[in-house]
Amino acid sequence: MFKKFQNHIFWTLTLLVLYLSAISCEITYGITLRDTKEKFSIFTDGSVATDIIEADDGSVSWIATANRGAGGGLSFYAKENKDEINISNYESIDIELDYNPIEGKWNTEAKNPSFCIRILPWDSTGMFGGFEDLEYVDAEEISGTLKYNIKIPSDFSEKIKASSDFDFILGFAIKFNDYQRGNNDGDQLKVKLKNVKFNAKKDAVEDKAFDDGLIESQRGSVIEIYYPTRDYTVEESALTDADRYKKHAWVYLPSGYDANDKTIEYPVFVLLHGRGQNENTWGLSNKGRGGKIKGYMDRGMASGNVEKFILVVVTGVASKNWGPNGAGYDLDGYNVFQNELRNDILPYLRENFNVKEGRDHVALAGLSLGGGQTFTIGIRQCLDLISNFAGFSPGLQMQPDDIIAEVDSNPDFNGLKIHNLYLTCGDKDLSVYGRYPSHVNSMKNWDRIEIFKEYTYPGGTHDFPVWYNGFNDFIQMLFKKNETENQNQSTTKVEYQTFTKIRKTKIITKCRIKNN
Ligand SMILES: *[C@@H]1O[C@H](CO)[C@@H](O)[C@H](O)[C@H]1NC(C)=O
Ligand SMILES: *[C@@H]1O[C@H](CO)[C@@H](O)[C@H](O)[C@H]1NC(C)=O
Ligand SMILES: *[C@@H]1O[C@H](CO)[C@@H](O)[C@H](O)[C@H]1NC(C)=O
Repeated sequence: MFKKFQNHIFWTLTLLVLYLSAISCEITYGITLRDTKEKFSIFTDGSVATDIIEADDGSVSWIATANRGAGGGLSFYAKENKDEINISNYESIDIELDYNPIEGKWNTEAKNPSFCIRILPWDSTGMFGGFEDLEYVDAEEISGTLKYNIKIPSDFSEKIKASSDFDFILGFAIKFNDYQRGNNDGDQLKVKLKNVKFNAKKDAVEDKAFDDGLIESQRGSVIEIYYPTRDYTVEESALTDADRYKKHAWVYLPSGYDANDKTIEYPVFVLLHGRGQNENTWGLSNKGRGGKIKGYMDRGMASGNVEKFILVVVTGVASKNWGPNGAGYDLDGYNVFQNELRNDILPYLRENFNVKEGRDHVALAGLSLGGGQTFTIGIRQCLDLISNFAGFSPGLQMQPDDIIAEVDSNPDFNGLKIHNLYLTCGDKDLSVYGRYPSHVNSMKNWDRIEIFKEYTYPGGTHDFPVWYNGFNDFIQMLFKKNETENQNQSTTKVEYQTFTKIRKTKIITKCRIKNN
């Protein structure tokens, strides 16, 4: 009898243990914030990771493919409901992941795998929609498990604030760091993320609900357009139906934009991506909060530091192999983009939006190869249409002095000034920095340029923190009141560059006073 009862207890307890362990087994892996553990929730926007698998145990695995530093990262929300947390309240992050190079897809000369842990500020929209790098972690073995405690430096929240004005973050990303590790494009790494734990500082307050201080009417909006264009790598006489198509682009309309009020017209700014990328790469979007560059525009325009304009983010590959339809590597398509800009994009914008007439009110900028296009296509071939330019880590396909000579000897461009030219590059950028100082030197002495500004980003690599910072600097230069129309301001040209970020910005200004 007693034995039976013991048996009964034994089985009850066993079942209870099994039941409890079944519950606690449900999430073996995931994200831990304070005392709660949840499954990872993924942001796939902007990610080029493939084979993403969310396993029942809570882990997430994917395949990361090397692609000039842009390959195969994945982003995660810190909270499943996409609320933010205040990064100032945390001191470190524990991370645990398994990693394995895919057999036959790993350059034998490459170093052991390496990862970059990125933090995504509150206005991020995914892998490329805004981030700050927290730490690069190199694995000690070619494959295995990486367990690592990443300290959050005391000034890191200042970095987050400098880039998005608040210390709130939406999540984090883990990028395969193929850059500077000797990987070939196409090298592949399988990553399985198991645990990420945000460790709060001792006595840290609870994370509050987030408020950026802008009211809805101060925010611009983001819409999608599809403009008609064609493949300019194909001769006009040989064009077939497949060579004519509509192309997708993102358009930012500033707060207060009213399509029906034709009396208020805006300048227009066309923004380009780099090689292997497309119109989505800058992270401008009609989802979430619209991306980091939207935050810069909304806040800059609300504070009055930035003049209102319409931004258009396009794919700068003028062939069928553009953006999502192709790998975005089609150099021929990049090199004929002036036709699309001149014949299709600018006319479409003038026809469909309230855009100011004239080259004074047009800007063109791009990152990496798009920064190169800004020179080879924008300045060299479209100076009659555009007067403001920026190159963010520009991958220039020509000698700058050759561009200058060509423009100066083009009679169509006689007397056409460049109102603003902005250049930026990180001094740790292995792709571009070697040629950058001579590029700067050539440009700063060019008498065609009215205002020239340059910023060498300390420690910056060929990556987005440099480009976001450049974008934010450049929009503060753009479309300012014309001092020749307002004589009283003609002597205050230098003052006009008093940006909030001036402390870290090296300015080379040609302070030409027009009325002397
Ligand atoms: C984030 O937390 C820090 C430290 O607790 C605090 O000083 C800061 O004001 C918080 N940020 C916001 C925007 O509430
Ligand atoms: C300023 O106005 C003058 C005369 O209208 C024009 O030639 C010049 O290009 C304008 N500059 C800018 C920056 O708009
Ligand atoms: C220029 O300054 C004068 C004297 O301060 C002032 O009367 C005039 O309104 C100003 N003009 C403009 C266009 O601001």
